[in-house]
Amino acid sequence: STIDPTLPPLHPSFSPPKTSPTGSEDSPNLKKIIAHLNLQPHIEGGYFVETDRDPLLIPSPFAPTTETPSTANPSPTRAGTAAATAGETRHASTSIHYLLTPSQPLGAFHRNRGRTIHTLHHGRGRYVIIHADEIASPSCAKGYGGPSDLAESERWVGKARVETFVVGSDVLRGERVQWIVEGGKYKASFLLADDAEGGRESGGLLISETVVPGFEYGDHDFLRGERLGELVGMEQAGEMGWLLRE
Ligand code: GUN
Repeated sequence: STIDPTLPPLHPSFSPPKTSPTGSEDSPNLKKIIAHLNLQPHIEGGYFVETDRDPLLIPSPFAPTTETPSTANPSPTRAGTAAATAGETRHASTSIHYLLTPSQPLGAFHRNRGRTIHTLHHGRGRYVIIHADEIASPSCAKGYGGPSDLAESERWVGKARVETFVVGSDVLRGERVQWIVEGGKYKASFLLADDAEGGRESGGLLISETVVPGFEYGDHDFLRGERLGELVGMEQAGEMGWLLRE
């Protein structure tokens, strides 16, 4: 196995809905925030509202696809390549608020073609990034042990580099208040307790995300179990399966 034993396990601190059918309750305050910001359920899990869509239209930098991203050839050039665009355009950027709560504690693995800039408002969570756009050749797939501490780490799992980090306001512990996820990476996130000791119940993880160029459903796809198995191996895929959309 190529797993760095010093890594924290990829387990949730709030049971995902799958293993906890009754789920956890959101506080009255969280319910007020959801209503006040007009947040809607997101297909990834959690809640969101689009807060900005730049009216400026730019030529799409992405290679045109006739297929949906889930069936398109996931070649390394798929995202981020300046490609001839058959008249396709994108809004220059879009922004959303995104909220995870005790009853909606998981943002399931998915990817976008655009680059996403995230900013913390409050709460804590863990991000898991699968760098599926930089698949290792077998020779470099063994035993990579990147920097690892409690807040963040990175390792090769199967054929893929898997990165995980904590977002939160305790920057002195290595928590991030701003984080970037490039297009083409699979991303999942889940709620953590508000403090590192796990003592305080979560009042939710509220962030903003800006996608460049702007979000379109056609640029978005979910990671499926089969592909997760190809990327990280069947055993790890079983361990990480709770991060997939049901
Ligand atoms: N509509 C559904 N999901 C999203 C998203 O992640 N971002 C934006 N801007 N709109 C969406």
